Amino acid sequence: MTDASIYPVPAEWKTKAKVDAARYAQLHGRSLADPGGFWLEQARRLDWIKRPEIAGDWSFDEKDFHINWFADGKLNVAANCIDRHLATRGDQTAIIWEPDDPAEQPRRYTYAQLHKEVCRFANVLKAAGAKKGDRVTIYMPMIPEAAFALLACARIGAIHSVVFGGFSPDALAGRIQDCDSTIVVTADEGRRGGKKVPLKANVDQAAPLCPSLEKVVVVRATGGGVDMEPGRDAWYHDLAGMVADECPPEPMGAEDPLFILYTSGSTGKPKGVLHTSGGYLLWASLTHEIVFDYRPGQIYWCAADIGWVTGHSYIVYGPLANGATTLMYEGVPNWPSASRIWEVVDRHQVEILYTAPTALRALMKEGDDFVAKTSRKSLKLLGTVGEPINPEAWRWYHEVVGEGRCPIVDTWWQTETGGAMITPLPGAVDLKPGSATKPFFGIEPQLVDGEGHLLSGATEGNLVIARSWPGQMRTVWGDHARFFQTYFSTYPGKYFTGDGCRRDEDGYYWITGRVDDVINVSGHRMGTAEVESALVLHGKVAEAAVVGMPHDIKGQGIYAYVTLNANCEASEDLRSELKQWVRTEIGPIATPDAIQFAPGLPKTRSGKIMRRILRKIAEGDVSSLGDTSTLADPSVVDDLVANRVA
Ligand code: WTA
Repeated sequence: MTDASIYPVPAEWKTKAKVDAARYAQLHGRSLADPGGFWLEQARRLDWIKRPEIAGDWSFDEKDFHINWFADGKLNVAANCIDRHLATRGDQTAIIWEPDDPAEQPRRYTYAQLHKEVCRFANVLKAAGAKKGDRVTIYMPMIPEAAFALLACARIGAIHSVVFGGFSPDALAGRIQDCDSTIVVTADEGRRGGKKVPLKANVDQAAPLCPSLEKVVVVRATGGGVDMEPGRDAWYHDLAGMVADECPPEPMGAEDPLFILYTSGSTGKPKGVLHTSGGYLLWASLTHEIVFDYRPGQIYWCAADIGWVTGHSYIVYGPLANGATTLMYEGVPNWPSASRIWEVVDRHQVEILYTAPTALRALMKEGDDFVAKTSRKSLKLLGTVGEPINPEAWRWYHEVVGEGRCPIVDTWWQTETGGAMITPLPGAVDLKPGSATKPFFGIEPQLVDGEGHLLSGATEGNLVIARSWPGQMRTVWGDHARFFQTYFSTYPGKYFTGDGCRRDEDGYYWITGRVDDVINVSGHRMGTAEVESALVLHGKVAEAAVVGMPHDIKGQGIYAYVTLNANCEASEDLRSELKQWVRTEIGPIATPDAIQFAPGLPKTRSGKIMRRILRKIAEGDVSSLGDTSTLADPSVVDDLVANRVA
């Protein structure tokens, strides 16, 4: 992942960017030296009902553990994203929607139209019974109504929990139940790459497992046939016809919850990451403006899905808080052809494009012609997120896509962090392919060894963040003890990211990947424990251990070791059946890439599976398995090596 070359800040960026090198040094320095003053000043970028007088009030120590930002402030997030722009840019496009099928017409919403749509949606939710603090699960395709639904929740103070449309009915049910949602917002069907996704039918399967669920609001997206259960289900358009398009924004405390978003951890079921209103919005909006050097009027496209945090912060909240024009794309990068992303860029004259390394690697493989036949002259800045980008893909993005003209901001962050944390600022930081470079304002990254000793200088270790920042998650929904335990107990007094990281002699940070049992498949976070739980639910499986393996396109693939129950035969059919099984249990993104049938797993005498060995075998690195003498039965390793699935 190392690359010695440096791409200096282009001359025109040095002079024109909002933040140049000197200003970055000054602002970052001040953000650490005087956090109270710095953050109260930054907070002025939001529109407050009551302006806060205190910034951060937090402690990562177990005895006094708390995290608050701007706690005495009051605001409404939706009003910040819409209402305050009406006077100055009511007629400017807020959202451009590009449909899955390029033969169809895009849709555009001005800020004035967005205001009406969101108010109407908010009134529909109210009519369905939603109140401040209630949880609303949103299980939607990438259509404008998904953004309306998020903002409608924010407007009335309901807490949204978006569940990615690719998750299975079981996964959806688990997420509805964990936060006791009373309402689900969905669509008849989604569309991706010309294929239909049966969203409403999935909700129908999930609903019987969810006693808290009272109402299902269904947006008509494709017109496909669905069953409607009287009393429970209602069409959005029927309800919308009965309500007003004015809805006053609910005054919210800065620390009132804005949303829950489930993400995978190294153990147990997914965690409901909770973000609150003031600090999160400040973080999303400030990072969006500074990292992308966003200027009014620019067309900006974050090609993520609203089901992930990137979609929350950088399709909806950050850009809209900044009065930007944000593009929402319904489809996938390679349909109908590998030119699609670049065609969308040309069609809408996109200036800033933010996407994931996995998409770039998949497109790179198809050859440069798909890129070369498009113009891309509008592009000024490129971004990536979600996983480490290999220098080869970085160069391709820079040279072939951006024709050497566009800086690349490789932004490292997490669902937990709310927005970008370690990232280049395009006018301030020289780029090194594969490095997320330098910390954003207020961020103090540190590297520690396994015992928590602080490492200095050029070194490699575990990445921790030494102090709180406004966009930090505030708790795990329903389990505050798990929040502390997961992030603050490993290295007391610091937030542990779960990532490994190298710092070079220039103080640049290079994320090396997860050091826990989380794997990153095509930029999607997957807990190995989740896949294991799904596998052992199958009647023929006695035990399963899942690890990551290198994968050319996905970054990491899923490699599962499966021990079958006595009297069960291993076969190719069973292998396919198990892959399909996991797909149905969790969703297509969790499908194992390789399944190895293993009569035994390498365990210590106390019964703990030695994952280090399983990882090495999955990686094909069998020459350096390390010490296997502590295993209860060292001979299982030979069998595992001999039967490795290539
Ligand atoms: C990884 C996505 C290297 C990292 C916003 C992190 C990255 C996890 C980068 C969070 C990057 C994200 N370079 N690795 N630029 N961005 N990651 O919660 O391992 O879906 O911990 O948030 O993705 O994934 P999540």
